[in-house]
Amino acid sequence: MSPFQLTRTLAEDAMDAELRSDVLHGLTRTPKELPPKWFYDARGSDLFEEITRLPEYYPTRAEREILIARAEEIAAATGARTLVELGSGSSEKTRHLLDALLPGLEVYVPVDVSESALKSAGDALLAERPSLRVHALVADFTRGLELPPTAGPRLVAFLGGTIGNLLPDERREFLRAVRRMLAPGDALLLGTDLVKDEGTLVAAYDDAAGVTAAFNKNVLAVVDRELGADADPDDFDHVALWDREHEWIEMRLRARHALAVKIRELDLVVPFEAGEELRTEVSAKFRREGVRTELAKAGLTLSRWWTDEAGRFALSLATVERGAGGVG
Ligand code: AVJ
Repeated sequence: MSPFQLTRTLAEDAMDAELRSDVLHGLTRTPKELPPKWFYDARGSDLFEEITRLPEYYPTRAEREILIARAEEIAAATGARTLVELGSGSSEKTRHLLDALLPGLEVYVPVDVSESALKSAGDALLAERPSLRVHALVADFTRGLELPPTAGPRLVAFLGGTIGNLLPDERREFLRAVRRMLAPGDALLLGTDLVKDEGTLVAAYDDAAGVTAAFNKNVLAVVDRELGADADPDDFDHVALWDREHEWIEMRLRARHALAVKIRELDLVVPFEAGEELRTEVSAKFRREGVRTELAKAGLTLSRWWTDEAGRFALSLATVERGAGGVG
């Protein structure tokens, strides 16, 4: 069998239909909002990679520090023969984990909505590790996932703190869907950014060089290109704020003056009042007890909790107890 296999579980036009529906619903409601997944076209993905290298954006470095320090422990604790990575992107941080899991590891299953990211990440990994089998899945994992029938134990990794992009109800559904993917003896490795002082958090989402502002405004370029809209990024200001009550960062785009955006393909005109804001992202921050509780509600047990030296970011290892039944 070829060491690289790719399965598409997402119809080519499913993403397009979803963008239309998200834009239609998100821009005709009050307050306006768009889901953060639409940031990530080729330019948005490049901008995100640039964000991960910014001095203010600590999560990527903090998570890499933990992965390097704990990869051997993770490998020993899980004995994984299959590694599934949700939202794998460039698979860059995963290398540390993969190398610790080899030689017991049989197959790596990266899951992403971007086929191009999966192909280049797969090629790069295989060039260095010819014994590895890669079975990439083009899929939207937020909707639950049919995994290929690979060997157990399985380790499902969801890194980067991306779970923070989901609202509490969505997180509950997502964690339940993950639980359904797992059999007794399998595990989940979950990356979560942690609650910390407001200054550090806001700076990470409002950097001095303006890269995050460009990333935020890129969602307008995506809507302009894909749906024939005429939103001008210069008409909006980047806003990042800490919501103390919900313990999440919100990114918004604030209209500098009253304006209207025409969206040709939806036959829609969207008015903005001066100062009106469009929410583009929620990035929730976590505490250990909250993570433990959310996992438990999905039928998962928090068995290990590791942070970087500075205590900014956490990796959790959650297990399905042997002998545990399904949670339905
Ligand atoms: C990729 C979702 C983890 O929420 O920190 C970075 C995305 N947004 N800067 C995050 C993001 C603004 C990032 N995640």
